[in-house]
Amino acid sequence: MHEDARLTDDGAAALAAEAMRHVASGQVVGLGTGHAATAFVRALAQRVAAGLDVRGVPTSEATAALARGLGIKLLTPDDIETIDVAVDGADEVDPRGDLIKGYGGALLREKVVATLARRFLVLVGADKLVPVLGSRGRLPVEVVPFAAGPCRRRLEALGYPATLRTADGAPVVTDNGNRLLDCRVGPIADPAALEAALRATPGVVGTGLFIGMMPAVLMWDGSRCRTLTRENRN
Ligand code: A5P
Repeated sequence: MHEDARLTDDGAAALAAEAMRHVASGQVVGLGTGHAATAFVRALAQRVAAGLDVRGVPTSEATAALARGLGIKLLTPDDIETIDVAVDGADEVDPRGDLIKGYGGALLREKVVATLARRFLVLVGADKLVPVLGSRGRLPVEVVPFAAGPCRRRLEALGYPATLRTADGAPVVTDNGNRLLDCRVGPIADPAALEAALRATPGVVGTGLFIGMMPAVLMWDGSRCRTLTRENRN
């Protein structure tokens, strides 16, 4: 991990400008959530103000409010069959391009949007690159409120002690009305098997594991943008 290369505002803006090279007029664009994705929404809005004709599909109410306020027309997944390009951040990127997302809490809608996208661009600082998923120690899981307790116990039985995410002393409520469990993890030997085990738990509606989506990863290394391929991701 490169903890020395966290994404600065300037780095996020540079990544966003690079991502804009993949957006064309007439497209439907997935709008992620978080620091990097916010920089992209701002860059997109500037081009919209200059005449670019796109529609955005936001991954959170926060991104929807930001995009709407900046003049980007929005759609929901109900309105479309595919998204031309989705742009989002990530919390971990492994050498295969598999991801952990959801530290910001928008994992479920982010996964829906990424799955609908023909192209998926991930914007990160170098600190997000890990040799093995789980290296940063945390995996968010979204659960329905009714099952938060049983899900937490089941995750613990699977070897992943989990904490209910709270803010100001109250449980965090996702945009979908759900709760978030943050699992304590180490390096995950088989992310696909863990995803299957978690998804088999009644009450789990989403996990932060984004496996096999093969995103293009645009990485800020502290001084410039690099496009990571399978060969140079670690
Ligand atoms: C939101 O739920 C997350 O998945 C974010 O996309 C992810 O945490 C990366 O966000 P930053 O760009 O803020 O680091």
